[in-house]
Amino acid sequence: MTPKIVRQIAELREEIAAYRRGNPDGQVGFVPTMGYLHEGHASLIRRSAGENGLTVLSIFVNPLQFGPNEDFDRYPKDERRDLAVASSAGANLVFMPSVEEMYPEPMRTKVTVSEVTERLCGASRPGHFDGVATVVSKLFHIVQPDRAYFGLKDAQQVAVIARMTRDLHMPIDIVPCPTVREEDGLALSSRNVYLTPEERKQALVLSQSLAQVPGWIEDGMTEAELAVRIRGRIRSQPLADIDYVEIATYPDLKQPAPDRPLRDSNVPLLVALAVRFGKTRLIDNVLLFPSEVK
Ligand code: PAF
Repeated sequence: MTPKIVRQIAELREEIAAYRRGNPDGQVGFVPTMGYLHEGHASLIRRSAGENGLTVLSIFVNPLQFGPNEDFDRYPKDERRDLAVASSAGANLVFMPSVEEMYPEPMRTKVTVSEVTERLCGASRPGHFDGVATVVSKLFHIVQPDRAYFGLKDAQQVAVIARMTRDLHMPIDIVPCPTVREEDGLALSSRNVYLTPEERKQALVLSQSLAQVPGWIEDGMTEAELAVRIRGRIRSQPLADIDYVEIATYPDLKQPAPDRPLRDSNVPLLVALAVRFGKTRLIDNVLLFPSEVK
């Protein structure tokens, strides 16, 4: 069924209230996105549609989470295609507010999640996670879902939102969902469209080096040794410009004990990368549970 498009907050609240009145036991699932939807987003929508009676998708390119030299102005958009993806994946309501609707006056409130935002993308994109936590908090207050679905390609974002939700006693289940990849391994991202054919080819080094991580950890590498090995592998591609290669405990995103082989970790480990190819910054990661690295 074609989803209903809603652009005003008041109308969205009314639609959701009407669903809840008509379905007292019905659950509301929510998939927040910035649009230019791909199969990764579709998998979140499908999962929500399978687990909830009503699935709300939001499409909003949030200016608050972009730095001054980032791609807010050129972030890709394709409303018609987004609606086709939303429809075939099973969304019921598509919320597409304007910037004025979401931010009718300058914000005097900001949601800041500390510690989990200090490393990885938090360090290289100052203010980014304040923007994410603030807009997701606003969207959660508007939609008041039972569950919200996020892709693990942005594993730090999932950790930040889960922590915010817990700290603020929001009664919402945060559902982390697996990264969806192209057949050759490249993690799906709306930003992949910026890559030239040569950059796209060289960008495969991200998933290829991450695929070797479990073996390298099994060999007994420490955090520093693993980071050096990954950096070396990525640098084999001349167009790759490393922003960060980080290894962190998950979901706390603390530094693992520096002298201990990572295979002895008793908490999950996140190995995360951010690498520029030309003007495009790509991220990717692998999340390993202790049983997978012993
Ligand atoms: O992951 C994204 O697309 C965005 O960060 C989100 C969660 C929709 C907030 O703007």
